[in-house]
Amino acid sequence: MPADILVGTQWGDEGKGKLIDVLTRDVDMVVRFQGGNNAGHTVEIGDQKYVLHLIPSGIFRPNVKNIVGNGVVADPIGLMEELKALAARGIDVSNLEISDRVQLIFAYHKKADALRESKAGVKIGTTGRGIGPAYSDKANRCGIRGIELRNPASLERLFREQGEKYNRLFEQAGVERLDLDAEWQKVAEAAAYLAPYVANTAYTIAAALKAGQKVLCEGAQGGLLDIDHGTYPFVTSSSTVAGGACPGAGIPPQAVRNVWGVIKAYTTRVGEGPFPTELFDETGEALRQEGREFGATTGRPRRCGWFDAVASGYSIMLSGVNLLAVTKLDVMDKLPEVKLCVAYDINGVRTTELPASAEVLEAAKPIYETMPGWLTSTSGAKSWDDLPAAAQAYLNRLAELVGARIGIVSVGPRRDQTFEL
Ligand code: GDP
Ligand code: IMO
Ligand code: MG
Repeated sequence: MPADILVGTQWGDEGKGKLIDVLTRDVDMVVRFQGGNNAGHTVEIGDQKYVLHLIPSGIFRPNVKNIVGNGVVADPIGLMEELKALAARGIDVSNLEISDRVQLIFAYHKKADALRESKAGVKIGTTGRGIGPAYSDKANRCGIRGIELRNPASLERLFREQGEKYNRLFEQAGVERLDLDAEWQKVAEAAAYLAPYVANTAYTIAAALKAGQKVLCEGAQGGLLDIDHGTYPFVTSSSTVAGGACPGAGIPPQAVRNVWGVIKAYTTRVGEGPFPTELFDETGEALRQEGREFGATTGRPRRCGWFDAVASGYSIMLSGVNLLAVTKLDVMDKLPEVKLCVAYDINGVRTTELPASAEVLEAAKPIYETMPGWLTSTSGAKSWDDLPAAAQAYLNRLAELVGARIGIVSVGPRRDQTFEL
């Protein structure tokens, strides 16, 4: 014991990868517990920049064990390529285990994802990585799990069975069938490559906890993209709140100590869906340019806006966040004034609760508090005392609004641009 959990508290891309890398200074194990390669977690070390999709962000620390937990949906070909690319850059990837219970993503899931986006009534703006179809198969109990990577004969049989089912759907929809023979060749290569990493990771994690090692669970996406609590249907297909780490990694609730909530000092969102504080003016553009807000996975420009204490506060409440890691404060350095959304006006009624209906949330008008900007560079700050008073006031107000204590502030993408409070 204990296990700490780190989650995103907004619509993803809060800087989780950077924070995991920083926190793994004194951690023994990092576990991804949900999502798949829809995630893009950036870690900058010196002049090197890495973007991780399925591999946990503890991979750069040689003594840290990294686990792709059972709650993940893993594209074997993507995972193999990611491992090869890291190894080619001199990163030791031997300290990795892949759960024998992960759900595997195949080409037919990605094709079904694309088809749904092009044909369905509601376009989600997914990452196109087959996440929704793979989790649907899991819930429908026809998914294929990590253990099959060790058994090529059974993997091939299951892959062809499922692939044929999807091909019939593609035919009905008037789109081209997948060439299962060609796809199988790629899957077989990836399976052979990944098989040595496959393990019953729940036991690995339990043994680590029993031995008193520190385990850090790495969330993907963010609380507002949660399948139950997010801005449904504009969400991802997994439990992104901290509670998801228990089933997704296979750890008991009593093992959990701290919940870190990573929170961007403003707000971004990629894809469709309501975003009450979105800015369509030059301030939004300034945040996008200063913050380099372009998707780490798809390269799409991220929608940008003011900090939303109603939406973030809801996700922080659900995850039981007791420590906040506020990132990208430096991106706001040049703004003459800064705003925080403290409530919504929905059809003339003031509320601090996030409504269930995406339609209602679309109609919400943000009620702002305006504070003076600090107009000073914070990117070199090494401590709280180095921050200008206006930045301190902004952070204090933000923490007060969401009801959690700030434990870390990040003022740039590098490891050393981080300080604890
Ligand atoms: P994740 O998905 O939560 O891991 O976040 P992403 O990697 O998708 O996006 C965060 C981006 O912000 C990455 O390019 C990081 O290198 C960068 N970043 C992280 N923290 C900071 C910070 O405090 N300031 C600035 N300017 N950039 C940061
Ligand atoms: P990280 O871990 C930001 C968004 C997509 C889309 C919705 C559903 O890097 O923070 P999906 O492909 O999951 O079915 O897409 O969720 N989305 C993310 N947005 N960061 C992510 O991951 C995301 N993963 C999915 O843009 O709106
Ligand atoms: Mg990301």
